[in-house]
Amino acid sequence: MTQVDRYAVMGNPIAHSKSPQIHQLFAQQTGQSISYQAILVEKHGFAEAVAEFLTAGGKGLNVTVPFKQEAWQLADQLSARAQRAGAVNTLMLRESGSLLGDNTDGVGLVRDLTANLAVELAGKRLLILGAGGAARGVLAPLLEQDPTHLVIANRTAERAEELSGLFSDLGDLKGCGFDALGGEAFDVVINATAAGLQGEVPDLPEGLIGPETCCYDMVYGSAPTAFMRYAQQCGARCTFDGLGMLVEQAAESFRLWRGVSPETGPVIDFLRHQ
Ligand code: ATR
Repeated sequence: MTQVDRYAVMGNPIAHSKSPQIHQLFAQQTGQSISYQAILVEKHGFAEAVAEFLTAGGKGLNVTVPFKQEAWQLADQLSARAQRAGAVNTLMLRESGSLLGDNTDGVGLVRDLTANLAVELAGKRLLILGAGGAARGVLAPLLEQDPTHLVIANRTAERAEELSGLFSDLGDLKGCGFDALGGEAFDVVINATAAGLQGEVPDLPEGLIGPETCCYDMVYGSAPTAFMRYAQQCGARCTFDGLGMLVEQAAESFRLWRGVSPETGPVIDFLRHQ
């Protein structure tokens, strides 16, 4: 019997992950023979679960909440973008036996915005809401797009200030609390807070979102998210959820593991109409 290469996503919770379906669709499309499963890992059992998976012949992993920082520590080598992000969402076993850690979240967001949704970032004013791991993971790839400036605003101002300090060599960047945001409308507003998980919207001052503003929520759901509904009420030019980012980050992981780039458009369409 031919052995297929094994991949998986590890997280907690993991039951609703779309990653197995996305990678199976990529594999069919590119004629690759792989298996891909979702593995629920106990909160304190990540390193053991990874070791077990690799011993059993596993070739690569996606890593999701709450293990991305632990994966960063566990990797033997880090890509430059993972090093910056302080988090790893993709692990790959190299022929040498060492474990490479990468982070494809930021490139996934940028590709979804620029290639799929035709949202320009170069020369634009960007606002990112939130200063946790989700925000940190996408900052460097966003700044590489050359926005005129990027503001990180967070409920806890100190976290935003600290985060902006870590990336200030990459562009015009400022960190602040929500209340320090003046009445200036931004071109692109990205929600990277966890507020939506409780169906909440960050408590923002008026005037940030206007008729020229594109709003993007890094989470997704079967219906428009709370942040998307809020942005629509503010008269945003367009609102998007994070389904495309999910598929794009997966495609970048698949390319790293398999050396081929799957087409993402048909997979996004398929999931959207499911
Ligand atoms: P993640 O890795 O998902 O970013 P995290 O590091 O716990 O998770 O960060 C969660 C982010 O969502 C933080 O920016 C948090 O703000 P605080 O730093 O002030 O805690 C933000 N957040 C969570 N719930 C929120 C809410 N109801 N309103 C606004 N921001 C919220």
